[in-house]
Amino acid sequence: MHDIPVPLPPPAPAPRRPLDLLVVGDANPDLILHGGDVEPAFGQHERIVEHGTLVLGGSGAITAVGAARLGLRTAMAGAVGDDLLGRFVLGELADAGVETAPVRVLGDVPTGISVALARPDDRAILTARGALAAFDPADVPDDLLRRTRHVHIASPFLQPRLRAGLTDLIARVHAAGATVSLDTGWDPEQRWSTVATAVPMVDVLLPNRQEAARLATALPAVNPRPGTPVPDAPPADDQLAAALLIAGHGPLVVVKSGAEGAAAVHGGTVVQGAARRVDAVDATGAGDSFDAGFLAGWLDGADLSAAVALGCACGALSTRYAGGTGGQPNRTEAEAFLAVGA
Ligand SMILES: Nc1ncnc2c1ncn2[C@@H]1O[C@H](COP(=O)(O)OP(=O)(O)OP(=O)(O)O)[C@@H](O)[C@H]1O
Ligand SMILES: [Mg+2]
Repeated sequence: MHDIPVPLPPPAPAPRRPLDLLVVGDANPDLILHGGDVEPAFGQHERIVEHGTLVLGGSGAITAVGAARLGLRTAMAGAVGDDLLGRFVLGELADAGVETAPVRVLGDVPTGISVALARPDDRAILTARGALAAFDPADVPDDLLRRTRHVHIASPFLQPRLRAGLTDLIARVHAAGATVSLDTGWDPEQRWSTVATAVPMVDVLLPNRQEAARLATALPAVNPRPGTPVPDAPPADDQLAAALLIAGHGPLVVVKSGAEGAAAVHGGTVVQGAARRVDAVDATGAGDSFDAGFLAGWLDGADLSAAVALGCACGALSTRYAGGTGGQPNRTEAEAFLAVGA
């Protein structure tokens, strides 16, 4: 980690805006099965696992709840169905203090749902997208974008209309005077270039290391800078090379690496954030909780090292419980956790 605080590109200075953060993205329940052997066996086998928990999931929703818990004035825009699971999602968001009025309740599709088979260090997820596939970012009004300092966009690969409308949405956010971050999540279809065109437009990109490598490979093909040589794509395991390459296209890049922590690159400046030891139960949502911590630090005007450290604390603490939001800290808990390691 750098000893000297590194100045960050500033978030939108809009003190009179009523919201700090609008999250645009996925909100759905996660059914998490964990403890014991969670490997399914086809051929009509029934296997006993130790725990099954229905929790709020969706990368966007987990980030929104994490941010609200850290004290940010937060709203969520997305789509759920008019059903039991949709009401569960809205209730969990509202209980956490997230404004849910911009979440659309659609009458003709069910709420999306994920089933996660979770081990302490890995997981397999099955997702039925339902309303996630119907969410249209054109339904997010300009008025709402003008109410917030910052917009965080989550999971465009799971929401095809969000993916198709991504560059338009980012342009509208900037026109409304707010800044933008993007956590693409994994692309189940492996067509990274469909989102890579938007990457140079965002202020902050928050991939994990596998996603960073894929995006770095997709980037030069869709966004060659006239007059500059296109760098070779980095090897898939070189997260720093991937981050540097992406950062060369403009955004502040923060790459998350699970139990190995995180690295942030802004221009040529590199800041490493160490992961802290925790007794991890389930890493679902660690990256989304990291996003909440990093953005809370960034929007507060913290230096890059401090923002990365707050992200790492929030990511680590979130792994202590099954699901994305159960272990998310408030500001006092996150700072106490950081102070112990200082
Ligand atoms: N086992 C762990 N121990 C300590 N810190 C962890 C652990 N797992 C994750 N973290 C912290 O959380 C951050 C984000 O985790 P990770 O790299 O798994 O993100 P991700 O792959 O985007 O996760 P997801 O998409 O499920 O939210 C890491 O950078 C690290 O700081
Ligand atoms: Mg992630």
